[in-house]
Amino acid sequence: IFQAMEQGDYEHLFFCQEQSTGLKAIIAIHDTTLGPAAGGIRMKPYATEEEAIRDALRLAQAMTYKCAAAGANLGGGKCVVIGDPQRDKSEALLRVLGRFIRRLNGLFITGMDVGTTLEDMDILRQECPYVTIYSEALGGPGDTAAATALGVVSGMRACLKAVYGDERFQGRHVAVQGVGAVGSHVVELLVQAGALVTIADVDEERVRSVATHEQVTVVAPGEIATLPVDIYSPCALGGVLNQTSIPTLRCEIVCGSANNQLQEEQDGELLEQRGILYAPDYIVNAGGVIVGADSLLPGGYKQQRAEAAVRRLYQAVEQVISLAKEQHVSTNRAAALLARKRIEMMKQVRSVA
Ligand code: NAI
Repeated sequence: IFQAMEQGDYEHLFFCQEQSTGLKAIIAIHDTTLGPAAGGIRMKPYATEEEAIRDALRLAQAMTYKCAAAGANLGGGKCVVIGDPQRDKSEALLRVLGRFIRRLNGLFITGMDVGTTLEDMDILRQECPYVTIYSEALGGPGDTAAATALGVVSGMRACLKAVYGDERFQGRHVAVQGVGAVGSHVVELLVQAGALVTIADVDEERVRSVATHEQVTVVAPGEIATLPVDIYSPCALGGVLNQTSIPTLRCEIVCGSANNQLQEEQDGELLEQRGILYAPDYIVNAGGVIVGADSLLPGGYKQQRAEAAVRRLYQAVEQVISLAKEQHVSTNRAAALLARKRIEMMKQVRSVA
């Protein structure tokens, strides 16, 4: 384990165990140079402990890069709970986990991820103030899909500005793949901003509920990625940008919420060679993490302040685009460079007591 930690330069790995509730959780803290380590709680029936540890380490490191590149003053962490969320989750287990997280005194701040829900966060929150995403009814930000969508649309604006010299959506055409929690909010914001929107979803019910506006048209799921549009916005699945799909794209910009859109790191270069501007997914979908961090500021969560912070993803994308140009690298590589630069910058700042 120490070897893996050394290789990835991790700060801590905490193991939490409580017999009566059956809790077995691992909290990985990758890097806290920029601020407290942020990362969600993932609950999964991992086949082995090793698999759980590796997942925690990998996801915590990804959070460091996400927060740093998105311009947030947060580090990277992750909590994984070993267990089946349907079968093994209980109020007691969550509250015990909340107490373990509280013991870390703010080193780790958290919210939901695969296998945990907003309701779970409300339970954890009873034990721990470092759960930063919780219900609006309790004064928290609530579900983060709307904030994620706001971040995606802010990223789109920065891309439009870079490609056309004008960030406005009037007369622009956007293809949104997947109109679930995030995609439906993206469509709403785009319609408000005057864009033409085409949508597709495998769930017809979702399509019906979103295609209620005259600016919105619908195509079959198989067609959405290859439409001749200004922006293609993947808001469903990962891996949609790959050796096979990239040659068929007919957009100027790719900017969406889906995680891990690039199948391989090199697919970023393929997009660049095709002259398509790619907004790195992990930057533009950072809205949820950013609103969560607002809960820690004086006076607790404030919607307006949090939204203003999410809108600053515009500047984060702008910086990535200019760094990519300056260094002659793809935007995904520039995002990683930018993240490292911010962490190095903060280390310099900290050298003065
Ligand atoms: P969701 O499950 O609510 O929505 C996904 C939608 O995509 C569903 O309506 C589904 O029917 C549709 N879909 C699935 N396969 C499709 C296909 N082949 N073609 C077209 N549509 C398809 O999920 P959510 O929360 O909206 O997330 C969307 C993406 O954004 C995911 O990749 C997620 O990891 C990512 N994301 C979400 C965040 C959030 O705050 N919810 C935060 C950061 C990333």
